[in-house]
Amino acid sequence: MSDVVKLERHDDVAVVMVNSPPVNALSAAVRRGIFDNVKAANADSAVKAIVIACEGRTFIAGADITEFGKPPQSPGLSEVIAEIENCSKPVIAAIHGTALGGGLELTLGCHFRVAVKEAKLGLPEVKLGLLPGAGGTQRLPRAVGPELAVQMIVTGNPISASEALKNGLIEEIVEGPKAGAVAFAKKVVAEKRPLRVLKNDDSKLAAAKADRSIFTNAAAAANKKNRGMNAPLACAEAVSWTLDTPFDEALKKEREMFLKLVADDQSKAQRYAFFSEREAAKVQGVPESTKPRPVERVAIIGAGTMGGGIAMSFANAGIPVTLIETGEEQLKRGLGIMQKNWENTAARGGIPADAPAKRMALINGKVGLDNVKDADLIIEAVFETMAIKKEVFTAIDAHAKPGAVLASNTSYLNINDIAAVTKRPQDVLGMHFFSPANVMKLCEIVRAEKTAPDALLTAVAIARKIAKVPAVVGVCDGFVGNRMLAARSKQSEKLLFEGALPQQVDAVVTKFGLPMGPFAMGDLAGLDIGWRSRQDRGIKSEIADALCEAGRFGQKTGKGYYKYEAGSRAPIPDPEVETLIDETCKRLGLTRRAIGDQEILERMVYPMINEGARILEEKIASRPSDIDVIWLYGYGWPIYRGGPMFYADLVGLKEIADRLSFYAKQTNDPSLEPAPLLKKLADEGKTFASLKG
Ligand code: 3HC
Ligand code: NAI
Repeated sequence: MSDVVKLERHDDVAVVMVNSPPVNALSAAVRRGIFDNVKAANADSAVKAIVIACEGRTFIAGADITEFGKPPQSPGLSEVIAEIENCSKPVIAAIHGTALGGGLELTLGCHFRVAVKEAKLGLPEVKLGLLPGAGGTQRLPRAVGPELAVQMIVTGNPISASEALKNGLIEEIVEGPKAGAVAFAKKVVAEKRPLRVLKNDDSKLAAAKADRSIFTNAAAAANKKNRGMNAPLACAEAVSWTLDTPFDEALKKEREMFLKLVADDQSKAQRYAFFSEREAAKVQGVPESTKPRPVERVAIIGAGTMGGGIAMSFANAGIPVTLIETGEEQLKRGLGIMQKNWENTAARGGIPADAPAKRMALINGKVGLDNVKDADLIIEAVFETMAIKKEVFTAIDAHAKPGAVLASNTSYLNINDIAAVTKRPQDVLGMHFFSPANVMKLCEIVRAEKTAPDALLTAVAIARKIAKVPAVVGVCDGFVGNRMLAARSKQSEKLLFEGALPQQVDAVVTKFGLPMGPFAMGDLAGLDIGWRSRQDRGIKSEIADALCEAGRFGQKTGKGYYKYEAGSRAPIPDPEVETLIDETCKRLGLTRRAIGDQEILERMVYPMINEGARILEEKIASRPSDIDVIWLYGYGWPIYRGGPMFYADLVGLKEIADRLSFYAKQTNDPSLEPAPLLKKLADEGKTFASLKG
């Protein structure tokens, strides 16, 4: 018998105890252990009921994702579930933590389920580009009814123990999972309760048979929210089989669909994203014994767009914040926006009605930089000007307590130069949040030359604590994300001169799966910012300049690369812009040509990949997967495409290097020549993924 699953006896109840840290995933050994122990307990005449429970922080959190794509090992999960379901004695699942994916499917083979009140139950396979592949699409609808089942399976979001109780997914909420389940088992035996075998129970399906719209509605909603993704549609379809396909046949179809999705690039990308996100939190080049510094109080300087959003993220996680401004007026405005933001969310039902007041109570507004003195972490989010940043950091240095971590939210500026004005450069780093900071999950943690390892780990740990995804990067202009974005922006601008229109470029980018194209994004951010900065630096960009000279600053003036109807953010292509582009090109003596969508796509994405290769070469990012995490969580790169570096490996680095060389010549732009690392990998027939480890 295996070590990861043991059999205990509590009077006449057998307890099959799973112990496979960290999350009791269903590896081959766990499957074998459960199978053998359940079989043995069922055959033991002294046993009257069987409980399946887990040690550690959670019940089984699903199939072992690391086994996907490897040769299958017996027994398969479906065999384990069938063994449980066919037991002549009652089998009870004792749930704590999270019963997810294959873990919940296993409980659906049990005859009864009990859970502690903090437990969560769900089928999140769709988030990995999959559908539940061990009967979940057929048994969950029979347990809770097809309407809730299709919603849970298509969104992948779990439900709480109390919702599970209300909807018939569990029988009871218990105190300790094992003790509670054993007591429940004894009650079932004493009462001689009939076994609830879900595959034979169609009682909850009748209503849906009359009205199949729940499936079409779920599919339509999934399509709207997850444009381009295969799994949500497959999930909705599979649940609908409960109505017209015999159970065993539906199980076979579910299995076939699962195998098809596992082999699909979308699921590979989503599984890669899952592990990349967790990998990114493991900082390289830091002694193993390093511990983060404790953070209890946080100060944020600047209550503008970013400072306000960052303060909200801390308050959302229950961490008190001192929010510091230059004057009462600015403070009042900043606090007002935060309150309104929370109130809007509460009105939509996103947070409880009393949450805005509770969260506002965690924000302590103050004027004056001496108020940083109690903070363990100080985040600066003032104007993006080096002179002001230096002034602010000099003041922080004078007031902050020893050992406090000092972070700047700068988007581009050199953290080494900022650190140099303090007497404690070892405590200084960047924490680059993305707008809107209370929503976007990415935080680039910028490690400067002198940043101490424990200061770095402190930033990583606190970012995770406030539900952000941290990725450690080095110092360079724009760090990783904005530096790659700049490589794309250069091409999008050039495409206009060569013959494309804003709407054509944006359509290609959104069709690829990004939420917005570069021109709609420019209109949203405001075109005047770049215009002023070009004027300051004596740089010209004739089309963008001409738009601004015509008063077209983007959404804020109702026109930019597009026009906007009053009160609407929907971009409408504008013939005036076409004329303006034509005239500008004529004036410059440029001949425009028809440009195909494939060229646009390649010129939007490949230069970013090239910049990513330079970033790796310069060790600004330590892993290709960190770059992908940055694009997934900071810029809305579609998760089913894994990230730019993952996508590059799929396309093939040779193809990318060849196309970049071609465009370098075609457009007379040497910056497009493949970076040495890209070229080397391409010549050797390797991938970015091969760089790992
Ligand atoms: N398989 C393999 N490893 C897993 C895993 C899984 N299903 N779930 C988590 N892990 C690993 C993580 O990679 C991480 O490893 P690391 O420490 O080496 O980085 C470790 O377990 C801890 O995970 P988290 O850092 O995510 O821990 P949290 O406590 O924050 O979260 C969790 C725990 C909620 C269980 C979260 O890990 C999670 O959501 N896991 C995925 C659950 C899931 O998707 N299950 C469905 C799998 S597909 C399936 O079951 C198919 C079936 O239908 C046939
Ligand atoms: P903002 O102009 O909205 O806010 C800046 C705030 O700082 C203002 O409220 C101002 O009164 C306050 N401030 C200025 N000097 C101060 C001082 N000495 N003490 C206290 N408060 C002071 O600017 P925004 O957009 O919030 O940007 C802040 C920083 O975040 C910049 O470095 C910017 O580059 C960076 N950033 C901005 C992003 C964005 O999308 N807006 C995204 C990521 C980073």
